[in-house]
Amino acid sequence: MRIPKLKTPEAFRKNTASLGIDLPCDDHVLPAAESPLSTPLDIIKLNGKTAGNRIAIHPMEGWDGTKTGGVTKEMKRRWQRFGMSGAKLILGGEAMAVRHDGRANPNQLIISNENKSEIAGLLELLLDSHQEKYDTTEDLVVGFQLTHSGRFCRPNEHSQFEPRVAYRHPILDSKFKVTSDKQLWTDDEIDELIQCYIRAARIAADIGADFVDIKHCHGYLLHEFLGAHTRPGRYGGSFENRTRILSQIINGIRSDRNQIDIIVRLSAFDLVPFRSDPEKSSSGKLGPGIPENFSHCLPYNYGFGVNPDNPLEYDLNEPQKFIKLCSELGVKLVSLSAGSPYYNPHIQRPAIYPPSDGYQPAYDPLIDVERQIQVVRKIRDTAPSNIAIAGCAYSYLQEFLPHVTQYLVREGWVDVVGLGRMVLSYPDLLLDAIAQGQLNSKKICRTFSDCTTGPRNGLISGCYPLDSYYKDRQDYDVLKRIKKQI
Ligand SMILES: Cc1cc2nc3c(=O)[nH]c(=O)nc-3n(C[C@H](O)[C@H](O)[C@H](O)COP(=O)(O)O)c2cc1C
Repeated sequence: MRIPKLKTPEAFRKNTASLGIDLPCDDHVLPAAESPLSTPLDIIKLNGKTAGNRIAIHPMEGWDGTKTGGVTKEMKRRWQRFGMSGAKLILGGEAMAVRHDGRANPNQLIISNENKSEIAGLLELLLDSHQEKYDTTEDLVVGFQLTHSGRFCRPNEHSQFEPRVAYRHPILDSKFKVTSDKQLWTDDEIDELIQCYIRAARIAADIGADFVDIKHCHGYLLHEFLGAHTRPGRYGGSFENRTRILSQIINGIRSDRNQIDIIVRLSAFDLVPFRSDPEKSSSGKLGPGIPENFSHCLPYNYGFGVNPDNPLEYDLNEPQKFIKLCSELGVKLVSLSAGSPYYNPHIQRPAIYPPSDGYQPAYDPLIDVERQIQVVRKIRDTAPSNIAIAGCAYSYLQEFLPHVTQYLVREGWVDVVGLGRMVLSYPDLLLDAIAQGQLNSKKICRTFSDCTTGPRNGLISGCYPLDSYYKDRQDYDVLKRIKKQI
């Protein structure tokens, strides 16, 4: 059942019971003095600071940088809104490529010496907007997310794929134009790339970021390396080899006498790629999501956190081992996500309306929300106590996001609640819920997916339906025409 039709927490719970899922929901949102969401995150310190609450903003790029990876007014506005949200953890701002060829699109930010002062300006805007609204930034921690896009690189033109991959993939290669072994990274090239991460972490420290996130999620390069079972050499095969890039980046950052704190964003599990069912799509419209045929690639040794014998199921053995490794390496927080928005968006970003390169939901998206919540819970249960765990994919909960996340933090299912799409339409949703016990329903993200459909079609991202800054742009008319075909 659609969330807006569920008028009370009790109705929400009845609905989840009928779906057969374990998705708890409190009856009331507690005021700040009693709210688990308002308690400081005291199990870790980032740059010597304790984050003042359990609310985080996940990194979100807008495909809106300059051609040289610099800052634009749209970016500035987004970072200001992140600052105004009241969240005390900004888990990366947005993906920043550690070098030009690692950009997922020709408008992605590049963290380089050339762009250093502009990125410093973004951080300043975020801090100022937070200071203005909340009177302090002493309990606010802000990091930068460092990335190389690997299989999804399009650094120069939106329409030009320039993938560089860890290994040949029997399903994804044809989808993302991998046609030759020349597109595989050599071990020596990886050694050079590691230096780029170390340099980027130095720039982040110089600018004053509290930490860097070494991105290992969503099918981007370092996530792909975690699943490089079939790759020979120093960076493939064994668990030790597949995680060597992270160890070397962290050792390199420390050898550079850089004491910046480090977090990791991880796709905690994966499934096979999905596609729109061609038999159920009519007149070019998207059908429900079905798995790609994987019968020719069993055992499925092409992912991380996926059961090789049945890749429609997750397997948390290696992800749990990876969290322990992170703790040993001094990583302070792991922010958990899942899968990839490019090949199985329903598990990564549950939505009732699909993006243009996706598929219709084959069942209630709450089932996908619950999967992530339960995975995070299992990982929190087995993770060392000195590492904080952040969760994700809560936006689809809409009105019930505050009730559910309050329960999750109170019961220790997760340490930090990270918000994605909801922030684009309603940055201070959780603060509003805690302060007033109710929400402005006109600002609630309804998972229309325009923020993804836009960039998939060469437009900048933003909440076109609900944020007047985007609604009033001509691009919205273009987007509406595209969406008629979905
Ligand atoms: C427009 C947009 C941009 C995103 N950019 C990034 C990014 O730069 N880095 C990242 O790790 N995840 C990115 N994500 C994923 C989000 O951080 C988050 O994982 C996802 O939206 C699911 O959380 P939600 O249900 O709260 O939206 C992006 C998502 C959207 C919708």
